[in-house]
Amino acid sequence: MIDEAATTFEAVHGGRPTGVWAAPGRVNLIGEHTDYNDGFVLPVALPHTTRVTARRREDGRLRLYSAQGDGTITDLSLDGLTPGVVASWAGYPVGVFWALADAGHPVGGADLFIDSDVPAGAGLSSSAALECATAAALNDLYELGLAAPELALLAQRAENAFVGVPCGAMDQMASACCTDGAALFLDTRTLEQRHVPLDLAAAGLRLLVIDTRVKHDLGDGAYAALRAGCERAAELLGLPALRDLAVADLAPALDRLPGELRPLVRHVVTENRRVLETVERLDRGGIAALGPILTAGHASLRDDFRVSCAETDLAVEAAVAAGALGARMTGGGFGGSVIALVAAGDVTAVSDAVRSAFGSAGFAAPVAFTAVPSAGARRVA
Ligand code: GLA
Repeated sequence: MIDEAATTFEAVHGGRPTGVWAAPGRVNLIGEHTDYNDGFVLPVALPHTTRVTARRREDGRLRLYSAQGDGTITDLSLDGLTPGVVASWAGYPVGVFWALADAGHPVGGADLFIDSDVPAGAGLSSSAALECATAAALNDLYELGLAAPELALLAQRAENAFVGVPCGAMDQMASACCTDGAALFLDTRTLEQRHVPLDLAAAGLRLLVIDTRVKHDLGDGAYAALRAGCERAAELLGLPALRDLAVADLAPALDRLPGELRPLVRHVVTENRRVLETVERLDRGGIAALGPILTAGHASLRDDFRVSCAETDLAVEAAVAAGALGARMTGGGFGGSVIALVAAGDVTAVSDAVRSAFGSAGFAAPVAFTAVPSAGARRVA
């Protein structure tokens, strides 16, 4: 794979690359729409990665080619890069160059060949993988000496300010910081992180990921509107963020809010609690006990936060009915993927049940795969 990447790099850019960097997509176990409320998240990196094969250029130009693109090279000068100038997929890696330069890091031009097996538009953070692989490559090529969380925050800035998606920090932190065999327990306010072991195989379990094939797109304004709603609620309650509202204070706080903001607040407050409960259960070695929390998290996203859709609801329902210990949509919502915690022996039965339920409902066939918790961004060659 790496030799192939070097060969393609040579065909596109001429000459040999300096190295290859990889960064993964992610699924979030629990803690959805909590990251921009200063709350808790618990993502897991996927084995699927985006690889950036790269070399410095000394003329201040960026030349980017993607195996998943339209066969053309994006070629632009780092001088005068401003948000909004790159509308295609290239906005993510170019945004990372911009964010690094804008923060005063001495980054120059580069030739990049990009290849990815992270499904795009599936709610599995293909954009964070692309940003973090680019950031890891530039960090080494230009000897910037930045630590993984710093690279993640610069990647988030690229997405917020250059691409224009007001996402939180979860996806980039997961892609940059996760480790093999563990979930990343992250406090998005302090950025304190802990790797919580998640040995699914030892527990006789599998994490089934079901891509509903309903294209998820955070750029369409719905995500921004939800974020604005949460921020407005915190402001009305006189709190820095919804993270500061305890479960015990939820009921009186809801009474003080306009009706349309109440379900948003209820979701965020109960979801933070679910993350903490999940980590407590994992610390006691009870992976199987996570099932009901996952399913309760889905109900909250469906009924209160309202970011699920018919396909994600059906996938959860069919998976649980076929024996999954628990299931929920993962990521921003509006389509995308569902995760299900399943006994090793039930993986086929659960996948088949979801596929058949989709067939009966007239939905396109979903794509299911099992995922092991994998490593974050790294140099691979
Ligand atoms: C998207 C965003 C994340 C997070 C999730 C919802 O994946 O990029 O920052 O807000 O949605 O939990």
